[in-house]
Amino acid sequence: MASALDTRGTPMHKFPEPELGDAPIPKERYTSPEFMAREWDRMWTRTWVIAGPLSDIPEVGDYFTFELGHESILVVRSAPDRIDALYNVCQHRASQVVPKRGCGHARAFVCPYHLWTYDLQGNLRGLPDRDDFRQGTEGIRLPSLQVDTWGGWVFVNMAPDAEPLPEFLGLVADHLAPYDFGGSFALTEDYVFEWDCNWKVAVDSFNEAYHIQGIHPELLPFTDDVDCPVDLLGKHSRFLFHVGRPSPRWSDRMARQAGYEDRNALSKEMRGMLEMNGLDPEPFAGRQGEVRPVLMSAARETARRRGYDVEALNDEQLMMDVHYQIFPNITLNISPNHFWFFRARPHPDDPNRCYWDYQNYDRMPVGSERPPRPETVHTRWGEGHESKLHLALRQDGEQAAPQQRGLRSRGFKGLHLAYQERRIRHFHDILDGYLES
Ligand SMILES: [Fe+2]
Repeated sequence: MASALDTRGTPMHKFPEPELGDAPIPKERYTSPEFMAREWDRMWTRTWVIAGPLSDIPEVGDYFTFELGHESILVVRSAPDRIDALYNVCQHRASQVVPKRGCGHARAFVCPYHLWTYDLQGNLRGLPDRDDFRQGTEGIRLPSLQVDTWGGWVFVNMAPDAEPLPEFLGLVADHLAPYDFGGSFALTEDYVFEWDCNWKVAVDSFNEAYHIQGIHPELLPFTDDVDCPVDLLGKHSRFLFHVGRPSPRWSDRMARQAGYEDRNALSKEMRGMLEMNGLDPEPFAGRQGEVRPVLMSAARETARRRGYDVEALNDEQLMMDVHYQIFPNITLNISPNHFWFFRARPHPDDPNRCYWDYQNYDRMPVGSERPPRPETVHTRWGEGHESKLHLALRQDGEQAAPQQRGLRSRGFKGLHLAYQERRIRHFHDILDGYLES
């Protein structure tokens, strides 16, 4: 943990947490159309969700569409200091005003069907044959949603009486502020994968480190999946994943199978980390367990050399995957100089399918120009694009469809969770708070 003197960065101490019991999680939560409908009525339509990156709408008239369930939402910079979120549905006969998904630029939104024209704030400004509407067209507009921003993203909420976003985010906003997501990072990869599983399977798969020994054993020589402190933070949660330290599960036997002398031998990954930080690996031969503190001190210097401003981060987090879940559907896998953003979105009407959005963000050297925005790739898992992802994410994605099949089996009743998997239990508990209110 960060030393008591290192008060910079993301707080690393243990936070108090509720006792959540140990009852099984009923499988119907992942498979039932009725449960899915309740989630829509009581949770999705009443929670803050990230619609997209603020960097997609820098200029007045820039917009993007965001699909959630059967809704399409239009997010637009309508004035230099104003963002509007509008239901993307023409008030004439329900056509999509902007049929194309993704980013665009407009002076006004013209519905392609009957050419009804709305200004950037959603007010109806013109239509052919206005006099033919005997009932009048006064006051017609694209209905708006609550909108706010944090961390370089636009959040929307369909509930008119939504709690303010800062209240919803709670501690998470302060915890992650030192990274400066909005100012220092650029979006560099953007994929939308269709997965054959419930959206919660996609969320769960990143909320515990228990599966690392099973499907990611190659991580064990250089990451600690055992001392992986969990915190439940209001509606959200985190774990702190130490990088540069071998897992206690990394045994002499496993090391020998991988071609090393024993578990203390310097793995190729650890060697790579040392070299990347300008350090000679040779003195660490057979001393793999002693590498992490050395890497921690070197990482700050390496970042400086590359022009990255990591001064707000503490030493610990320079060698950590700081892993947050923002309820309901965002996972952030945060390293000092890059992070992964995962967003699970429900299918409009099938509880056995979802969309898993993967974005990579890279820290930019101070004063450097932002790279062009990558094209969004829309694809199904298994069609080939997943081969471009990190091995661990390919392994996670492969797990999704078989797990959903298992959830539908007559031979399975519910999730039997370990204490170390309590982020999953907590997530269901928060979800229940929405469903029961
Ligand atoms: Fe995983």
